[in-house]
Amino acid sequence: MHAFLRDMLQCPVCAGELRWDIAEREDDRIEQADIRCVRCGASYFVREGIGVFLPPDLPRNDLWEQTSTALGRYLHEHPDVEQRLMAAPPETLSPADRFYRALALEERGDFAQARAVADSALALLYTPEYRACHESQKRWVIDRVRDRPGPIVDLASGRGDLVERMARELRRPVVATDFSLRILRRNRRALEVAGIPEHVSLLALDARRTPFRDGAVSTLTTNLGLPNIEKPGELLAELRRVVSGEFLAITHFYPSDDEANLGVLREFGVAPLLVRESLVELLARAGWRVEIANAQTGRALPTPASELLEGARIDALPVAATVLEWCTVRAW
Ligand SMILES: C[S@@+](CC[C@H](N)C(=O)[O-])C[C@H]1O[C@@H](n2cnc3c(N)ncnc32)[C@H](O)[C@@H]1O
Repeated sequence: MHAFLRDMLQCPVCAGELRWDIAEREDDRIEQADIRCVRCGASYFVREGIGVFLPPDLPRNDLWEQTSTALGRYLHEHPDVEQRLMAAPPETLSPADRFYRALALEERGDFAQARAVADSALALLYTPEYRACHESQKRWVIDRVRDRPGPIVDLASGRGDLVERMARELRRPVVATDFSLRILRRNRRALEVAGIPEHVSLLALDARRTPFRDGAVSTLTTNLGLPNIEKPGELLAELRRVVSGEFLAITHFYPSDDEANLGVLREFGVAPLLVRESLVELLARAGWRVEIANAQTGRALPTPASELLEGARIDALPVAATVLEWCTVRAW
């Protein structure tokens, strides 16, 4: 993580000052450190360059950890499936299985092959309209943040699709954040292979209770973070607290009468964030001014299931065909 982040951080439990015991630095980066809150005594750390600021008292549903563990276990217990998944020509695999092959290749450290297989899978997993709408939002956000001051903090960065694009095109500090340490470790290796590790900081944090000081973040982005943050609680108020400039959230909305999908979204506790009117109202209630920018609609279908791995599917939603409204929510 970049050393300048120290000035932006506080204890995510009690907002106390942090005491840093730095064991290893490399240029402008901190590689190893032990960190303690001087007020409540909670401890955090930096290992292999990844800062870990997860509040110990907030339960997390880390799907990357679960998927990687389950995939590894399944392939270990079913060597015949592993053989077919890893040895068959990729073009003979279903789109979902290609993606699982990419995940397994990454676990083995083969990022170059994994990327080619993952790209070919993503081109088939989503409708052309879905991909075009999504791409248009990423382009819009990158152009918007180009001249903004300060580091860009990205929320719920996942595999870092947007982070990598911003770092590569803008060549300035981008902070990738996620509550999954597993995906951040994967990102560290992927960024090294991509040749752009020096622009990106990796922070493990929970978006619902971040370690950022009040107003410390001048530009916050997220690429489909909002649909993925379960039980968001006071998420929007927490983001209001930390952002002094602009929040740019790439997202999509479900039609308000799309009961098949909204029923599942309610189970995950994210339905209010995924309907246009309710998100705008929730943002306003949390103190944000809001503009819905670059809106466009595109048909979306449930992602196809795996043919080799029993019951596996890449995305939980949509569960039924729908038309999504894509946009970038600009809030300030
Ligand atoms: C699927 S990704 C979205 C795509 C990603 N932003 C990209 O550009 O590739 C969503 C991420 O949200 C993370 N996430 C879910 N809840 C979170 C929370 N409360 N705090 C931080 N990250 C969270 C998940 O671990 C997952 O990696």
